[in-house]
Amino acid sequence: MPSFKLDDREIPFEPGDTIIRAAQRVGVDIPHYCWHPGLSVAANCRMCLVELMPPPGRPAMLLDVLAWDSAQQAYVSQKKPKLQPACQQAAADGLVVKSQSSEHVVRARAAVQELLLLNHPVDCPICDQAGECRLQDYWLEHQATKKRMRDEPIHKPKGVVFGPTIVYDAERCIMCTRCIRVSEELAKDPVLSLRERGNLNEITVAPGRQLDHAYTLMTEYVCPVGALTSSDFRFKARVWFLRSARSTCVGCATGCSSFTDFDPRNQKVYRYRPRENPAVNKYWMCDEGMLDYQRIHHGRVLEARVRGEGATDLAALAKAADIIKQSAPQKTAVLLSAEHSNEDNAALLDLGKALGALQVFHTGRPSGQGDDILRSADKNPNTAGVLALSGGKARPFADLLAAVRDGKVSAIIALGSSVPAPADADGLREAKNLVALSTHDGPIADHAAVVLPASSWAEADGTFVNRDGLRQESDRAITPQGKSRPAYRWVLELGKVLGLSLPWQKLSELRASSQGSASAPSPSPSVAPGVSG
Ligand code: SF4
Ligand code: SF4
Ligand code: FES
Repeated sequence: MPSFKLDDREIPFEPGDTIIRAAQRVGVDIPHYCWHPGLSVAANCRMCLVELMPPPGRPAMLLDVLAWDSAQQAYVSQKKPKLQPACQQAAADGLVVKSQSSEHVVRARAAVQELLLLNHPVDCPICDQAGECRLQDYWLEHQATKKRMRDEPIHKPKGVVFGPTIVYDAERCIMCTRCIRVSEELAKDPVLSLRERGNLNEITVAPGRQLDHAYTLMTEYVCPVGALTSSDFRFKARVWFLRSARSTCVGCATGCSSFTDFDPRNQKVYRYRPRENPAVNKYWMCDEGMLDYQRIHHGRVLEARVRGEGATDLAALAKAADIIKQSAPQKTAVLLSAEHSNEDNAALLDLGKALGALQVFHTGRPSGQGDDILRSADKNPNTAGVLALSGGKARPFADLLAAVRDGKVSAIIALGSSVPAPADADGLREAKNLVALSTHDGPIADHAAVVLPASSWAEADGTFVNRDGLRQESDRAITPQGKSRPAYRWVLELGKVLGLSLPWQKLSELRASSQGSASAPSPSPSVAPGVSG
């Protein structure tokens, strides 16, 4: 593999790599603002400047500069190497590159930092980016000097509402253009632009438009400073209190890899962030997915219910068992849910088998809008998993309603909260003996004789299979809300009350029995939040 030398380290590279990309791949960070691995190269911030050593026998490219000579108390003429942006410079075999080891580079980075902070309001105490801001981090690493400018800084627009999700502060903006490129290159909607020159530069929205495409929160996510803030997250939490769990977005069948950022003190989820995964979402998530965390805390079923009234767990389990016992096994149906993990669905299938209930159906959230970027029209995270687990035998929800109408099903044990179409909810009225394991209020919980409160995806470890058949684990972030428990735990309890023994007792055994082999070990449950690119 070809390689180049960066300071004292040999860095291998792939064809087409720039110096910064190859270095990042092996974990060496060259400071940068405007470069992002998922966007085109702008090379405008100059933070990534490096010194390229000339090949043997070739003269170095030098610039004439004026430098202050304190002995002479005058500016004197000097030569210095022309530094190159590592984000634009192609890697070449045998190249010798100086980064931290070049005094010229060290000085240039400090100067870039000083320039970027010249007119900056330094309002870190009230900035949502504080704690994950590149300006803060790089000031400490590459500048660490006090501000020399004593003039009033240039003032620019603040609190500019760009659209329903994003607020802009031009005084904090370093004009890296990442947000412009996200809109153009990811969302394919060139709605942002740069206006004016020099000190007066600012980001603007196209006349007559709002920043309202399906990936607006990615502009905020890539913004390396606090210039773009999300209307949803701003002023809600300080990032240093948050912890992150490695999760899979359950907003649709794409299954983007994500981080669930939560505050362990109040067990509340505050945001989702993309987790880099070249096989699925690369560096991105859509707005729908980013805001989907809100469902963790809204509209939840948090205690057991019998006929719509709150009940103890024991009373609800006893009533559920009564209902199931009164139905002949051949007239008892199991309803799987594409909203739930493989583990929850496999547990319910096992209970159905132990009961001799062989009629299996599936439900999920209604379809929505998809695109050719990330979003799937199927708004369920585990349709492929449910179909595979049931060996393709799970029939559509409409067939269940028909079976209820025809008297072929007299009791249903249902997982999930949603039905595929709003009109389907009416059909459930006829299902008098419905036992539901639901995370949320909705048509299933509304029509159930017994509801057992199931934990959401953020409160339990689970495996989801995306539209391409990729099986991904999602880790628990917070403790189960209210009196909820993971649905597979309720299934185990229900089995006990029914006097049935299931072939597993623990999550690891359930995984092993339902997937043939246990999944890869879960990554660590929580890691510190970080910034993109
Ligand atoms: S708003 Fe943020 S991402 Fe956009 S140019 Fe300014 S600093 Fe860069
Ligand atoms: S595309 Fe789907 S899985 Fe990805 S972030 Fe959006 S909703 Fe979530
Ligand atoms: S990261 Fe290279 S110039 Fe901005």
